[in-house]
Amino acid sequence: MCGIVGYIGHQKAVPVLLEGLQRLEYRGYDSAGVAILQDGKIRVEKTVGKLEALKETLEGKDLDTYVGIGHTRWATHGAPSTANAHPHMDCTGKFVIVHNGIIENYLALREELQHLGHEFKSETDTEILAHLIEQYDDGDLESTVKKALKRVDGSFALGVLDREEPNRLIAVRKDSPLVIGIGQGENFIASDIPAILKYTKKAYILNDYEMAIVTKDHVEIKTLDGEQIENKEVFEVKWDAAAAEKGGYEHFMLKEIHEQPKAIKDTLSGRLDLDNGQVVLDEVKLPVEQIKNIKKVFITACGTAYHAGLMGKYMIEDLVRVPVEVDIASEFRYRNPIIDNETLIIVVSQSGETADTLAAMREAKQKGARVVAVTNVVGSSVAREADDVIYTWAGPEIAVASTKAYTTQLIAMYLLSLYFAQVRETLSKQEIKGYLEALNQLPEQAEAALKQDEDILQLVKAYAKSENAFFLGRSLDAAVAMEGALKLKEISYIHAEAYAAGELKHGTLALITEGIPVITLATQQDVYDKTISNIKEVTARGADVIAVAFDTDTQIQKSVNHVLTIPLTEKYFTPVLSVIPLQMLAYYMAIERGCDVDKPRNLAKSVTVE
Ligand code: M6R
Repeated sequence: MCGIVGYIGHQKAVPVLLEGLQRLEYRGYDSAGVAILQDGKIRVEKTVGKLEALKETLEGKDLDTYVGIGHTRWATHGAPSTANAHPHMDCTGKFVIVHNGIIENYLALREELQHLGHEFKSETDTEILAHLIEQYDDGDLESTVKKALKRVDGSFALGVLDREEPNRLIAVRKDSPLVIGIGQGENFIASDIPAILKYTKKAYILNDYEMAIVTKDHVEIKTLDGEQIENKEVFEVKWDAAAAEKGGYEHFMLKEIHEQPKAIKDTLSGRLDLDNGQVVLDEVKLPVEQIKNIKKVFITACGTAYHAGLMGKYMIEDLVRVPVEVDIASEFRYRNPIIDNETLIIVVSQSGETADTLAAMREAKQKGARVVAVTNVVGSSVAREADDVIYTWAGPEIAVASTKAYTTQLIAMYLLSLYFAQVRETLSKQEIKGYLEALNQLPEQAEAALKQDEDILQLVKAYAKSENAFFLGRSLDAAVAMEGALKLKEISYIHAEAYAAGELKHGTLALITEGIPVITLATQQDVYDKTISNIKEVTARGADVIAVAFDTDTQIQKSVNHVLTIPLTEKYFTPVLSVIPLQMLAYYMAIERGCDVDKPRNLAKSVTVE
């Protein structure tokens, strides 16, 4: 996620901007830049890489000024490069902007603006905004920005400077965070509180469609319709800087668990055409004829991403009627898989840099397969080398344990499966529409699934001393069980095993003893009765069963010791919701056991060695 800072006041702007950007480093970034107003001109300095690189570029330069904006970029549209780094200017050098968010209609706007003679220097969606502002310039920055934003679909937090109005700075937001720091003879804009904490603990939190007109002595807030907002509440920051980086959460993992509704919404954004019952996946350039000819799909990935891949198998085989194999990437290329040009490989990787996944992908490409990548990191090796890329838009994931990466990978798998069903006409328009409507509900339903801290904390008290746990489920629930077990193992160090519930009696049942926690997912209605039978098998041997079930299920509590609930959704989409209580269970267990949640022992966020 990009980071924005802006300053206008009595101090030299550049050190304030750099300090702010440093405080936003936790958001993840691949390039950084600043723009200042100096001697009636806008001056932009930017570099790829860490802030140190930007500081080196700035060293020894005359940067005396009291107004400026800065940015750390986490690439979305366009690879990490100096040209794509922010700030971005219009053609005339009159305006400069920094942006966080995604402009969804940027392709159409870019074409229109090019037609009008605008010249683009980057591949970013952001640069469109600079040219749009230029296009609508009426001599007043405030009204110009408002006019330009009327043309834009998508999300934005924006900082704008006009060389002809050096005494004010404009900040505006929709669906991306932005705060205005209130100082004495100085004011600030920032994506997040940590950027301003060194200077002030007072801020306005901008709401959607609000614009702040910021001078050194005054902050005026209006709606984008021009309505003045009087008596806007001043937010008094009570956290210290470290807590603020985590948005007030104790750990990045907990923050990322809670970011899931927004992350899911972002993954879906612009990809559901509900009116026409169509999935929009413009980024998949694979020709329709080739999609129709796919004879076999392999999905390959590691760890959590592999668990997301398992869902693709269920959905593609059932809805598209193409055989699918899911392979752990580190095994895939050592078994000489049968691949030709009618084979599609789907690789799933949050980081896009996992060595085993990359190696599997290269092997498949070499054998003639077409590769579709599902990844979160723009410009990553997987993204660069794949034929088609579906980005998950989850924002940077910092905790080692994947949470929002997993749920957004699931969403991407759903979208791809439905897209194939649409192209191959294995589902009717009406059926696709039904699925899309259910997908559209998921962000809100994920929000509801998050609200069970109290119940989970009670379970933690009861089972934190257990050294073993089992996770059971049938059908899609079996795959979620695998992810639940992995989460518990990697951060709480409790030995956990996941089983397809029907398989337990073929050996593992011998390990079930008095009081052992068995977490059982019971969301799949076609195998529900069989799951209940499996629950009986373990309770008869003394296990304590914690079930994850729909909140509409009135029967389950008769068979188990504890129930965690999720809202009712389509069969395929339950994993997005049912994993949430499992992530929270793992998190709170780890806390109770005194483990380092964000940095579990022996593990790295991205495994770039084989
Ligand atoms: O970046 P990737 O998605 O390729 O990473 C794959 C695995 O290393 C990763 O999912 C790992 O299993 C998680 N840290 C588990 O929470």
